[in-house]
Amino acid sequence: MKDNIHHTDLMEAAKPFIELCYAELNRTPEEAEDRLMNIRSQIELTGTYEHTLEELTHGAKMAWRNSNRCIGRLFWDRLKVFDARHLTETSDIFSALLHHIESATNGGKIMPTITIFKAARPGEAPLMIKNHQLIRYAGYDTPDGTIGDPASLSFTKECMELGWRGDLTDYDVLPLVVQQGNEPPEWLAIPKSYVLEVPLEHPELPALKEEGIKWYGVPLISDMLLEIGGIMYTAAPFNGWYMGTEIGARNLADEGRYNKLPLIAKLMGQDTSSETTLWRDRALVELNAAVLYSYKKAGVSIVDHHSAAAQFGLFEQREQQAGRELTGDWSWLIPPVSPATTHIFHTSYHNDIRSPNFHYRSKGQ
Ligand code: ARG
Repeated sequence: MKDNIHHTDLMEAAKPFIELCYAELNRTPEEAEDRLMNIRSQIELTGTYEHTLEELTHGAKMAWRNSNRCIGRLFWDRLKVFDARHLTETSDIFSALLHHIESATNGGKIMPTITIFKAARPGEAPLMIKNHQLIRYAGYDTPDGTIGDPASLSFTKECMELGWRGDLTDYDVLPLVVQQGNEPPEWLAIPKSYVLEVPLEHPELPALKEEGIKWYGVPLISDMLLEIGGIMYTAAPFNGWYMGTEIGARNLADEGRYNKLPLIAKLMGQDTSSETTLWRDRALVELNAAVLYSYKKAGVSIVDHHSAAAQFGLFEQREQQAGRELTGDWSWLIPPVSPATTHIFHTSYHNDIRSPNFHYRSKGQ
């Protein structure tokens, strides 16, 4: 009985996906209908169904297009999709992850990419990448304070329990950690040659370079679940390129992260004795200028928040032309620096959750 309910749910999720996907790909309604018949029998036989490569590829792009919090969606149709559903050995999964990093990094000319591993099967424990991002700095609690990224404290502990050891610098790249079903998780250190990093400098603050601040080039989210037509891909790491503020106004600036504003203010010779000097705001702007300057200089793709907002405006227009209703999460779409200088701040968005989409994995899953 329970399985039957599940089958109906899956069929009900497959139907609108196949219809929309096939319409967008200019397939005939008959083709969609035939395909749905085929899916129905696959579900009856096996409890699930398999996407064709075309459905997988377009479904992943639709999921990006539906990501309400993403300001970079203009480029949704240019996502490069690697189909890694056939891989079963953990060593092959590690190789595919390294290949993703290399191909997406592309020597600095970053390519938006997703690698899709096997989907969850009914009644089986899923494949999971335990990392939040494939490349991320470790964080350690020490008696003298935190070393590295405070956002990584608990994952770093997990890695150390598995036997991994970092160098205890502020920028130790964490290992890849993969878990198949109920098997113990396995880890692999990412060879240094795969990790493109950008040393931070500022054209008018030469002393900044001496601080040894850096960030990695490519943000590769690996802890979200990709849902396409009712199928759950629990391991589907994806990347775009950075918007400067993610690094300059959050990762390096937040008090609970690298907390660099007081240092920047000092390098600028600012008076930090009173908030009314706006030393934080001035430091924030120069830190963000340094991020954009350094990535440009290193030849690593990055976008400033004004250009990103303009690109999002174009996305809004294109969606309207395509007859699709735009969805968005205003609180995430506005950039954390000078939000009111962008049109996004002055616009409201419907935060409806469309399918296909990316979802957070619930804790412990
Ligand atoms: N905000 C995250 C970070 O700073 C990355 C999220 C994805 N960002 C992107 N540009 N695709 O690491």
